[in-house]
Order: sequence, then structure tokens, then C-alpha cells
Amino acid sequence: MMKNTKTVAVKASGNYDITIGKGLLSNVGEILKGIKKPCRTVIVTDSNVDPLYSDAVIESLEKAGYSADKYVFAAGEKSKNAATFVEILEFLASEKITRSDLLVALGGGVVGDITGFAASCYLRGIDFVQIPTTLLAAVDSSVGGKTAIDLKAGKNLAGAFYQPIAVICDTDTFETLPEKEVACGYAEVIKYGILFEKEFCDSLMSGKCDIDEIVEKCVIFKRDIVERDEFDNGERKLLNLGHTAAHGIEKVSGYSLTHGQAVAVGTVIATKIAENFGICKEGTYREVEKMLEEFNLPTKYDITAEELCEAALSDKKRQSSKLTLVLPEKIGKCVLYDVDVENLKDIFSKAIG
Ligand SMILES: NC(=O)c1ccc[n+]([C@@H]2O[C@H](COP(=O)([O-])OP(=O)(O)OC[C@H]3O[C@@H](n4cnc5c(N)ncnc54)[C@H](O)[C@@H]3O)[C@@H](O)[C@H]2O)c1
Repeated sequence: MMKNTKTVAVKASGNYDITIGKGLLSNVGEILKGIKKPCRTVIVTDSNVDPLYSDAVIESLEKAGYSADKYVFAAGEKSKNAATFVEILEFLASEKITRSDLLVALGGGVVGDITGFAASCYLRGIDFVQIPTTLLAAVDSSVGGKTAIDLKAGKNLAGAFYQPIAVICDTDTFETLPEKEVACGYAEVIKYGILFEKEFCDSLMSGKCDIDEIVEKCVIFKRDIVERDEFDNGERKLLNLGHTAAHGIEKVSGYSLTHGQAVAVGTVIATKIAENFGICKEGTYREVEKMLEEFNLPTKYDITAEELCEAALSDKKRQSSKLTLVLPEKIGKCVLYDVDVENLKDIFSKAIG
């Protein structure tokens, strides 16, 4: 039986529960049985996660009366592309998976994004479940229904809003994560704290938070935003804190910096911009730096204002001659702030100078 699990209900275009707890991989079948009657399932996973966790999920599914096949692709962002996407669809078709069957995304954000997109397209839409195995996927990518693949022109340029029927997060899986990936997840965790709640930042800094509580808290923050702005037309843009500069930093680093590390540096830059504009009080920047340093995240990167500008302006989310920045007013509250594109280089230059 499942003990000590936490459940967060999401009400979006599809309603679903996020179940968080330790040892949940062996309960996947049991949890799903309450939502969908036994059917064929295909686990989509990557080459790192497969040897660690596929067997436990397959065993649990079979025990509950589901059949399970799997499709494994090479781990890494470089696989989140059109070729892998089509291979997954071809696999589903060759296995004669029907619209009443189920896809299971077992892995980090790469697996979740591509599997979700495949689920949204295969036979014009088939149910899927997210089983995040990275901290980042647990607190961010598995919740909210954004699915995507990368195109040559940039990250996440093709995708769909498509909600899973369940998210099952076994926090024991984080134990096998490389340290860099754990830090990467904490960049997003700290982002939520800066966006929504100073007390959450304080308890993170005290080191007394249990990982299940951290995931639950972040998922509730994200759920609340997604329920109010599922299709990213307004408030959901707040979740881009640190991401405008992060795009450029990731690119200039040749992707040697992870997304989370780039978001960390980007969050520091956003806070410096806010200080320069007088939006937050002096010293907020230093507070943000301290939090990120505590979680082994970088706070600086050698990049020019031109490079930051170029990446920010090629972002697909940009509209017209204005760019919307997410800037902290204080720890626990951020605002959307439109700046003129023509002033952007100067703004970045003063923040990193
Ligand atoms: N859809 C969204 O809303 C959203 C939000 C944020 C990020 N994303 C996307 O998420 C992706 C990044 O996610 P990520 O950081 O999870 O990357 P990832 O999926 O590449 O996982 C990082 C690495 O950890 C490995 N791994 C995963 N789970 C493991 C485990 N338990 N033990 C050991 N190794 C494990 C993976 O194989 C990979 O090498 C990006 O593509 C980004 O665009 C999407």
C-alpha cells in the first residue's frame, strides 16, 4: 500500500492528479488503475534511465493488468528532435497501439517533452502519463502540459499544449541523479521561491525541507499559475524568470552549462536589472546570489550584452518592439516589465558590467 504520498490536483483543459512520494515506481500500475482500465502501454525512456527504472515500472504495470512495451532513445537534449519524434510515432504504429492505449514518459524533461508531443499527435491524441525522474522534470516540465521538440532554428520550436492524465513522481529516483542535474533542478526550485514566497526560500536555506515537500510546494506554485493561464498568454510568463538571459548563456557556453545553471545566472542578471531600475531594493541581488551559491549554482558567466541581446531577441515568445522581462520586486514577488527592444543592450550592459 502507498504510504505518505502527497497528491496535488490540477484542473486544466484536462484534470489530473500529481502523486508525489518515495518508492512510487512500484505503485504506478495501482495508481493508474484508478484512472484508466488496463490497456497496452508503451514506456518511452532514455538510455540512462532505462537500465535504472524501466523494469520496476513494467513490473508494476503488469501486476495491475496492463501490458508494457518500451521505446528507448539516446539520452540528452540532442535527441529531442524531429527524427526521434517520428521514430517514436513509427514504433507506436508498428506495434499497432490504438487510441485507447497509453504512453508512459519515464525520465527527465527531454523524455517528458517529446513523449507528450508524440502523445498529442499519435492518432490525433492518445493518453499519456508523466513519470519524472529528474528534480527539474518533477518541479517544472512534467506539470502544465507544455510538450515540445527542438528544431534546427532553436529549442522547443514545435510542440503542443497537451495535458497528461497523471503525473507520478517517485522522489527516490533523484538519488541516482548526477550532482549537476540536482543543482539544475534547484535552480528552478529557487526560481519558484523568488517568484512566489520568501518563507519557502528561507526554509530552503535552512536545509530542513524534505524533498517531497519541496516538490509538492513547487508543483502547487506551478499548478496555480497554469490553472489561471494554461496557454501562456499572461501570468504564466512569470515562470520565465531568469530564462531571457539563460537562452543566450546556454548558447554561448556551447551548452556546456546546463539549462538550470544558465537559469541561475539569468536570475542574477534579472535581479540586477530590477535593482538598476529601482524595482527592488538594493541588496536583493546579493540575497539571490547567496541562495544560488548555497545550491552549487553559478551566478556569473562571461558573456557580452550583445550576445545576451541577440539570444533574447530570437526568442519565439517576443512580441513587437517590446520585450517582456520578469523582474523581482522583492524575494517572493516578481512583475512582468516591458522594455523597448532598442534599450535592451544598454539594460544588459549595466546589469553585467
Ligand atoms: N515542458 C516544460 O514546461 C518544460 C519546463 C522546463 C524544462 N523543459 C525541458 O526539459 C528539458 C530538461 O529536462 P532535464 O533537466 O530533466 O533533462 P534530461 O531529461 O536530459 O535529464 C538530464 C540527464 O539526467 C539523466 N537522468 C534522468 N533521470 C535520471 C535519474 N533518476 N538518475 C540518473 N540519471 C537520470 C538523463 O538521462 C539526462 O542525461 C529541456 O529539454 C527543457 O526544454 C520543459
